[in-house]
Amino acid sequence: MKLSDFVSAEQIMALHRPTATAEGLPASVYSEEFYQLENDLLFPNAWVAVAVSGDLPETGDVFPVMVGDTPVVLTRDRTGKIHGLINICTHRRMRVVTQAAKGQRALSCPWHCWTFGLDGKLLSTPNLGGMHVNTAPGFAPDQLGLKRVRVAQWHDLILVNLGNAVAFEEHRKPLDHLLRDYDLDNLLYGGKYECTYEGNWKVALEGGIEEYHLPWGHPQTMVGVVDCQDEPMIHGSVYTGTYYLPKFRDDDQHIAQFAPATLPSLRSRFTDERPAKDSLYVLNVFPSAIIGLNADHILYALFLPDGSTKTRLVFNYYFHPGAAAPEHEAIRRATVDAWALIAPQDDDYVRYVHENMRASEAAGIRPRFSPFWEASVQHFQKIVIDTIQRAERERAVA
Ligand code: FES
Ligand SMILES: [Fe+2]
Repeated sequence: MKLSDFVSAEQIMALHRPTATAEGLPASVYSEEFYQLENDLLFPNAWVAVAVSGDLPETGDVFPVMVGDTPVVLTRDRTGKIHGLINICTHRRMRVVTQAAKGQRALSCPWHCWTFGLDGKLLSTPNLGGMHVNTAPGFAPDQLGLKRVRVAQWHDLILVNLGNAVAFEEHRKPLDHLLRDYDLDNLLYGGKYECTYEGNWKVALEGGIEEYHLPWGHPQTMVGVVDCQDEPMIHGSVYTGTYYLPKFRDDDQHIAQFAPATLPSLRSRFTDERPAKDSLYVLNVFPSAIIGLNADHILYALFLPDGSTKTRLVFNYYFHPGAAAPEHEAIRRATVDAWALIAPQDDDYVRYVHENMRASEAAGIRPRFSPFWEASVQHFQKIVIDTIQRAERERAVA
């Protein structure tokens, strides 16, 4: 399958019109067949955020993840280095690591016990040549290690590239520049929240990068809000999102749940403390992560595809280390609870939009965008198309 089997040139042009008149991608892009195309051409050409370093904090921790439908295991070796390995046994394709574990010195495949180092090297093959005979003539273990993939860490986010994406040091530059006013290292880990949406990962993610639906979808976030700024934040195929700045009726009394900003600030390098105090970056780190960056906490949200019809959402929260003090505990808890309330409020939107895909095509309905709020969503769809087009061009040359 190729991109033109799903999206016509005319539809791509319609996506690229000015936001107010642009049309969103057709339903075919949310199908099982397109997910296969994403597995071939999109995920391998992206740095995909799949975990946070808190998922494997210690030496000997192993953490299996999926990059689309490719199983990968992350391991932390004795030196603290994180490795990414294709989690498929080189013997007969068993999943080597089926669940997260701690204190591991090696990875033993459950089926025939081929055992690999935390760096993927094949260490032993018990009984390969007969009972108590661990090798065989011509057997070359040095060529049968687990396949390695590139791994990068950006603050606490762990990203994997299965293919030939640009080096991560290059890729991260626009993100670093955008967030240059923030101190995001050595943060206090604030815990995790997980749920599953009944819809394609792109439906779930597109709903996560616009604030247009807040008054109706998440009314608790609008208490006291009388106006707001909402600017698209866009950079090529690295990120898309918004800079959101609500304006409150009464600064002292507002109980808005997105931006309480009462904990020690992550914006220590930022000189203008007000109104930046209440600002929120909502950034899609393409393809499938969103960071929610408030003045006083950061949320890493992973939208992990579980096939083409489900999305596993994982929130990880981090605070300024100064927020560890006991007097901040109640606010930390309130912040975490506020996000955990927001996530399930989107269940129905994801479910029904996904269910409506086929019928929307039949009825001739094309999605539209608010020019004020949804340039971020439009740009996300452009990156999906651009990434696959680029991969198809590279494949044609190869
Ligand atoms: S499939 Fe892994 S040891 Fe046989
Ligand atoms: Fe939402």
